[in-house]
Amino acid sequence: MRRMASRILSNFTNLSVFILVFLSEFALASASSTNTKKSHEAFLQCFLGYTNSNSTAQAIYTPNTPSYDTILRSSAQNLRYLSPSTTKPAFIVVPANPSHVQATVTCGKAHGLRVRTRSGGHDHEGQSYASAGDSFILLDLVNLRSVSIDASTGTAWVEAGATVGELYYAIGIVTKNKTAAFPAAAYPTVGVGGLFSGGGIGTLLRKYGTSADHIVDALVVDAHGNLSTRETMGEDLFWAIRGGGAASFCIVISYKISLVSVPPTVSVFRVDRDLSQGVTKIVERWQHVAPKLDDDLFVRVLTMAIDDGVGGKVNRTIRAWIEGLFLGGRCEDLLSILEERFPELRAGAKDCTEMSWLQSTLFFAQGYSVDNPSQLLDRRPQRNSSTKVKSDFVKKAITEKGWERIWKLLLEARDQRVGLILEPWGGRMDEIAEDAVAFPHRKGNLYNLAYFMRWFETEEAAARMHLKWMRKLYRFMTPYASKNPRAAYLNYKDLDLGRNDGGRTSYAKASAWGRKYFLNNFEGLARVKARVDPDNYFWNEQSIPPLFA
Ligand SMILES: Cc1cc2nc3c(=O)[nH]c(=O)nc-3n(C[C@H](O)[C@H](O)[C@H](O)COP(=O)(O)OP(=O)(O)OC[C@H]3O[C@@H](n4cnc5c(N)ncnc54)[C@H](O)[C@@H]3O)c2cc1C
Ligand SMILES: *[C@@H]1O[C@H](CO)[C@@H](O)[C@H](O)[C@H]1NC(C)=O
Ligand SMILES: *[C@@H]1O[C@H](CO)[C@@H](O)[C@H](O)[C@H]1NC(C)=O
Ligand SMILES: *[C@@H]1O[C@H](CO)[C@@H](O)[C@H](O)[C@H]1NC(C)=O
Ligand SMILES: *[C@@H]1O[C@H](CO)[C@@H](O)[C@H](O)[C@H]1NC(C)=O
Ligand SMILES: *[C@@H]1O[C@H](CO)[C@@H](O)[C@H](O)[C@H]1NC(C)=O
Repeated sequence: MRRMASRILSNFTNLSVFILVFLSEFALASASSTNTKKSHEAFLQCFLGYTNSNSTAQAIYTPNTPSYDTILRSSAQNLRYLSPSTTKPAFIVVPANPSHVQATVTCGKAHGLRVRTRSGGHDHEGQSYASAGDSFILLDLVNLRSVSIDASTGTAWVEAGATVGELYYAIGIVTKNKTAAFPAAAYPTVGVGGLFSGGGIGTLLRKYGTSADHIVDALVVDAHGNLSTRETMGEDLFWAIRGGGAASFCIVISYKISLVSVPPTVSVFRVDRDLSQGVTKIVERWQHVAPKLDDDLFVRVLTMAIDDGVGGKVNRTIRAWIEGLFLGGRCEDLLSILEERFPELRAGAKDCTEMSWLQSTLFFAQGYSVDNPSQLLDRRPQRNSSTKVKSDFVKKAITEKGWERIWKLLLEARDQRVGLILEPWGGRMDEIAEDAVAFPHRKGNLYNLAYFMRWFETEEAAARMHLKWMRKLYRFMTPYASKNPRAAYLNYKDLDLGRNDGGRTSYAKASAWGRKYFLNNFEGLARVKARVDPDNYFWNEQSIPPLFA
């Protein structure tokens, strides 16, 4: 009824987008708790009796089920979103097959209960397992995580609930093919579902682009609760879920990906340098060198202020880890390129190791051993901590003076555990068109700059203090970041950029963050949204609003 009203209006009209959006809003159960209780009960009955499915009863958990809490926490990476002030799911559904997902959407929509999908649980703002207010269903895809590789075509179907570690393991160990690889995250516990749908960057970025660039098909459950593939979902929706964040559009059950090839032996290196070892000059030079290197060579920088304890005396310094992956040959070749192009680094033979690509995925993940690939299968969060992340794109190299100012800010902030990660662009990223898929950040960027903050205190006051400092850092970085818009990476989600209020979303308001994440693709994404989910059922704090006019 509402949808029909909005369709009719949109055929006519120049009415403001706001009014259309207002009319087409998904009818949430109103705030009264009796209504909420009724809608929960009705959802449960619908779900248990869903005719096209079976065994739904085994797939659903309520807050009274003993394992509810264990499941809720199982992959929650950011503990501040499990604090008492966040809204916990009214139900957790752990689907055993796609029909359970269809039942969730069909019944959720019919009874005014929204769904949040969780694959790996790494959302930096906890959006896959917490909400700011509304009651919701957590759909945890942990049991949909198979990876089936078709060696004859070099493709694989990967279920969204798999982690990249599980994918890497399947590619490297199960197939025993040392030259097959896939460009995805540098961190094994990240989920395929969130990562691929928001882009996906890692050490193969300069050679092959993002994960999203290698998706060739997908199986999704849409806002009608129907299953569809690339052929039936429409090319526009298939475009949107490759970088536009699937959470605004549908639930991805699995992706079909095209594998890439790497040499059987790759070379990796890592050096670390502090202020007394010329870190400022090295980082300044890196900005000019790394984005221009041959695309076989990826060199990134991680840096943070640390307290070096020497003889019981604390000496605070800036330390940087400069590390890279070389697909073009042995250590000898890599070192000679580094000596020629990046002599300031003074990399030597002891800094370089030759190994398989699979081992390199362990090398770049902190706390993993290159000799133990089965660690890739461990899905558990590596730390119990809270985090805050922000990101920028840098188009113009920051001067040494600029870096000195940044170091000063970091050195002064003794209470803040913050790291900067500089991921080089260039290579393949310069060649792919901004609108080839929805992930837009391409030519013209030197690097992505991410600010990662972690804390272990559980008090809300501590969280407020850390969040406040991160906002200060972000303001401080303004002159160095891209402008109009100040671009950001969706997968480094940051609710400080703005949020949808209540159940409502206006296109104008959402543009504030939508243009940062999606640049000129934002409008197209909002149009896809209007076609596939006019009721705005797939809503979250930063979901894309439907644009009808
Ligand atoms: C420790 C850590 C390391 C990281 N390293 C990298 C990195 O190397 N490279 C990089 O690019 N990013 C990295 N990220 C960011 C990461 O890409 C994003 O957080 C990503 O969204 C995580 O996906 P997920 O499935 O684990 O998260 P989830 O929290 O499960 O989901 C993230 C978002 O996607 C939605 N979603 C998840 N699955 C589906 C689905 N099947 N269908 C529809 N919507 C879905 C969720 O609802 C949520 O909005 C890292 C994050 C962390 C915490
Ligand atoms: C019923 O459950 C089985 C086993 O989980 C599954 O293979 C089958 O697809 C399900 N049936 C439907 C209609 O989804
Ligand atoms: C290994 O995988 C790569 C990348 O998909 C492919 O080109 C190659 O043919 C595969 N080798 C074998 C022996 O299957
Ligand atoms: C989706 O499913 C509904 C029934 O649930 C059906 O009426 C409709 O035709 C389907 N739509 C598409 C596009 O397949
Ligand atoms: C402290 O750090 C400075 C600069 O990095 C260095 O020159 C000095 O030797 C260090 N002092 C100690 C005691 O380690
Ligand atoms: C995190 O906490 C849980 C208990 O809530 C515990 O089982 C787990 O071992 C902890 N993980 C780490 C890495 O400390």
